[in-house]
Amino acid sequence: MNAAHAVEARGLAKHFGALKAVDGVTFDIAAGEIFGILGPNGSGKTTTIRMLCGLLTPTAGTATVAGSDVTTHPDRVKSAIGYMSQAFGLYGDLTAEENLRFYGGVYGLDRDLGARIAWAEDRMKLAELGGRLSAQLSGGQRQRLALGCSLLHRPQVLFLDEPTAGVDPAARRLFWTIIRGLADEGTTIIVTTHYMDEAERFDRLAFLSRGTLTAYGTPTEVKRTFGENMTLEDIFVQLQGSEA
Ligand SMILES: Nc1ncnc2c1ncn2[C@@H]1O[C@H](COP(=O)(O)OP(=O)(O)OP(=O)(O)O)[C@@H](O)[C@H]1O
Ligand SMILES: [Mg+2]
Repeated sequence: MNAAHAVEARGLAKHFGALKAVDGVTFDIAAGEIFGILGPNGSGKTTTIRMLCGLLTPTAGTATVAGSDVTTHPDRVKSAIGYMSQAFGLYGDLTAEENLRFYGGVYGLDRDLGARIAWAEDRMKLAELGGRLSAQLSGGQRQRLALGCSLLHRPQVLFLDEPTAGVDPAARRLFWTIIRGLADEGTTIIVTTHYMDEAERFDRLAFLSRGTLTAYGTPTEVKRTFGENMTLEDIFVQLQGSEA
């Protein structure tokens, strides 16, 4: 893989008919970085992620993820990444362990499966779940289980689309402690969130507005671009105002 960057996007665009959902974005993400994609509802965050996951073919532009081109080698990209979508599919009538076993099978894990399930249960702190069915878990518990499922095959790059939506502050804190640990071990994390307190702690950010990249850099650099004493929340509100 490209030693320099885990993700490189160059003029990446996705148009749905006349709608330019993503309209030519260019950015790089370093290995082991926590990179946030921020922006109002409908600004193109999920569409960008789905192109980077090799799930949606770009209308224009190119991107490489873990060294593979998303358009010419989407299958290589898919095997190198984990993706926790906004509607991650846990099976409500299965226990945590049964869900992990199912996803391990999907990823083709075989001899390694028992060890990887034990790893996920330990790292995601799933012991407290007992044998409960996933439908009976709290939102925070479900998020940690979904995270475990998306990491079983040791992806180099992990995409998290609003992983903490509807999760309480204590559970969010535990979630981000786990994520920072993964990044420290070299996993690259691309994440969307509407919580600006979370975004403050990301390594770098990209703000999207109507499919265009409007700010890009560390939280400090982004705030400096928008002016003295601006918080990320101020910037978010200002960008949203410009959408109306
Ligand atoms: N398959 C599709 N066909 C047509 N339009 C689509 C499709 N997928 C997304 N869009 C449109 O593209 C735009 C960007 O959507 P996207 O889901 O990327 O936004 P988002 O930034 O993830 O929003 P949110 O914060 O609400 O999750 C929206 O106007 C959406 O309606
Ligand atoms: Mg979205």
